[in-house]
Amino acid sequence: MSRIFSGVQPTGNLHLGNYLGAIRNFVGLQENYECIYCAVDMHAITVWQDPAALRSNTREVAAAYLAAGVDPKTSIIFAQSNVPAHAELAWIFNCIARLGWLNRMTQFKEKAGKNRENASLGLYAYPSLMAADILAYKATHVPVGEDQKQHLELTRDIAQKFNNDYGVDLFPIVEPLIFGEATRVMSLRDGSKKMSKSDPSDYSRITFTDDRDTIAKKLRKARTDADPLPGSEEGLENRPEAANLVGIYAALAESSKQDVLTEFGGSQFSTFKPILTELAVEKFGPVGEEMKRLMADPGHVDAILKEGAARAHKLTEPVMREVKEVVGFIAP
Ligand code: TYM
Repeated sequence: MSRIFSGVQPTGNLHLGNYLGAIRNFVGLQENYECIYCAVDMHAITVWQDPAALRSNTREVAAAYLAAGVDPKTSIIFAQSNVPAHAELAWIFNCIARLGWLNRMTQFKEKAGKNRENASLGLYAYPSLMAADILAYKATHVPVGEDQKQHLELTRDIAQKFNNDYGVDLFPIVEPLIFGEATRVMSLRDGSKKMSKSDPSDYSRITFTDDRDTIAKKLRKARTDADPLPGSEEGLENRPEAANLVGIYAALAESSKQDVLTEFGGSQFSTFKPILTELAVEKFGPVGEEMKRLMADPGHVDAILKEGAARAHKLTEPVMREVKEVVGFIAP
């Protein structure tokens, strides 16, 4: 049976890339699959988080899921730290994953920067915890943006090595689900960098909390080149900023880049940007509004997280029993 798992880090500044690349895709999957969606607070503390902000950001991730249309009656929404299996299985995976595998992780290299000696051990082991998130539920499919592909390959390697080392067929080999026209939304200030929660410039991203005027201002200031939009996708080559705005439009309109270019080819950005703004306000604005409304009642969000954690915990129990038996741990 297929089971979906995905997670978002509660590190603030949730943005349009998180929405179009991941959260929006969570919603449609609910119709046909059992879905488990997590606010990964233990991943967040691999870099310093202010404790009060972490608590609020964790609720905000849950509120964003709800606002986007995740139904807590069918899907499970919970906070990672509330289910002990994640940390337990991560330790076992730390003993399966090889240093050489982790050394190849580009996200670690980016986040640790030049001062690698000063990065936390948790940041280095991050992908092992991510594998545990997924495999504690024997999830089979993981909807994410493109930037998580390498981590999911590592999840597959860990599952395979565990199964081989112990001669079992315990963990599934997960499939990434990377779909839509905005699997990698780029910064509005620099088409070579992805839109990110940690970019120092607020103008690089559109966030869930931006109002109409802010969305309009950010798109007006978005970097572009001087040429009009091309009529076909080949014309977007070597034009990263143009490609990004067209991709965002296509994703919001649920059409394709080619359809957008068929409609707007030849238009100047001065014409296209206000139309894109209207679309963003119409499609993304209400999600942010609903998230803010939900955040005004943290008790409601906390109740959903609590119930979700209990359901998630139940699902992990038989898996963890099986894993511990296979590894050779004495039953308590
Ligand atoms: P995080 O919190 O960085 O991002 C959450 C989701 O948003 C996607 N995303 C993007 N998609 C398109 N364009 C962008 N610019 C963009 N930026 C982010 C991410 O790909 C992700 O799907 N390691 C994960 C969290 C995680 C996880 C997991 C995910 C922990 N455990 C288990 C799946 C399964 C992360 O840092 O996502």
